[in-house]
Amino acid sequence: MNRRLFLRYLQQSPLLALAAELGGQPARKALSSPKDALDIFDFLPLAEKNVQSQHWAYLMGGADDDGTVRANENAYSQWQIRARRQVEVDAIDTSVTLFGQKHAYPIWVAPAAAHQAFHAEGEVATARGAAARKAQMILSTNASLHVREVAPAFGGPLWYQLYTQAEFEVSKRLVGAAEQAGCTVLAITVDSATTSNRVTANRGGMKTEARCRACHGLTQADYYKEHGMYEGIDPALAKPGGRAVTWTLVERLRATTKMKIVIKGIMTAEDAANCLRNGADGIIVSNHGGRSENSLQGTLEALPEIVETINGRIPVMIDGGVRRGTDVFKALALGASAVGIGRPYIWGLSAFGAAGVERVLELIQTEFAITMKLAGKQAARHISPLDVRRRNI
Ligand SMILES: Cc1cc2nc3c(=O)[nH]c(=O)nc-3n(C[C@H](O)[C@H](O)[C@H](O)COP(=O)(O)O)c2cc1C
Repeated sequence: MNRRLFLRYLQQSPLLALAAELGGQPARKALSSPKDALDIFDFLPLAEKNVQSQHWAYLMGGADDDGTVRANENAYSQWQIRARRQVEVDAIDTSVTLFGQKHAYPIWVAPAAAHQAFHAEGEVATARGAAARKAQMILSTNASLHVREVAPAFGGPLWYQLYTQAEFEVSKRLVGAAEQAGCTVLAITVDSATTSNRVTANRGGMKTEARCRACHGLTQADYYKEHGMYEGIDPALAKPGGRAVTWTLVERLRATTKMKIVIKGIMTAEDAANCLRNGADGIIVSNHGGRSENSLQGTLEALPEIVETINGRIPVMIDGGVRRGTDVFKALALGASAVGIGRPYIWGLSAFGAAGVERVLELIQTEFAITMKLAGKQAARHISPLDVRRRNI
């Protein structure tokens, strides 16, 4: 495997940098059981060992020089938590309600393509791990498995992420299949108007024909054949995606479904205002984990202007760079209703399948509950901007 990528990741992690600053060099060895993980980063060595190097580069990389991947993580270290004392916190309520459904924690599993690139059981394992921790899962359009196969493993209503397709009929069919499988929320991803410049992934071999052809094809039609969600869809309809998702298109889709419509990939107040004007039911502040534009703007930095614009009228969620329970707390303090976890649960999946996903979520949930208690919060819904302050260097 490409050790350089892993080492670069470690060097660039603000948390590990802090540990080094404090004089303790973290020694992380491949885990033998998910229970041994003390934090989510403990999954990295085994995950990397288990995954093909091309797939690892695809997972870890972002756009250009990965600057926005780092910006997402670094944004959290710019905020501090205001500790509060002498509050009764033996029993706290970590739950939040989204679209009328109560969630045990404000933490969901972000949509990511092709889980079978990381574990043979793919999205079924992810669904089992998420269900074990009562975490909402959003299934990607580009999942390895069909929503019909994943829904029973999750055992409750999934949310479905949509990449709109060049042919409207294909989008409509995907949405219909999701709704039929019980999905209640449709997250339409709008941050991929063109193919982004994935240097790390490509350098790691994502587009090296010989290597890739050994296990899968490279054309759009091959992609349709190999990704479960496109089952039954004529590969002749496969045309390169990567185009703007207009509001006209969102309207046409809305007319085909009763699912709530959430727009994923918003980074500015202007686009948030457009979401409101056009009747979106929710927003996910996201830059695709630093994989779309290399803006160097962390999602947490974009959150305040969006929260101000939305002013409580619809839920504003966020993903990108969330690695600790303290990060979840900070996002909620700055106005998010819930947060998504991306790469870290795939580290868990790659290392141990469902049990790894479960443990990653358990660690972040536990850290979040501890953070709430030490900030004197009895309920997640009480977390407010007064609970954080900007770092003052
Ligand atoms: C390997 C990988 C695949 C992804 N695939 C999708 C996808 O199919 N659809 C989508 O909307 N977002 C996708 N994303 C973006 C995630 O949903 C999420 O926005 C991002 O991973 C959050 O950042 P984090 O990884 O730093 O937690 C993907 C991200 C990764 C790392």
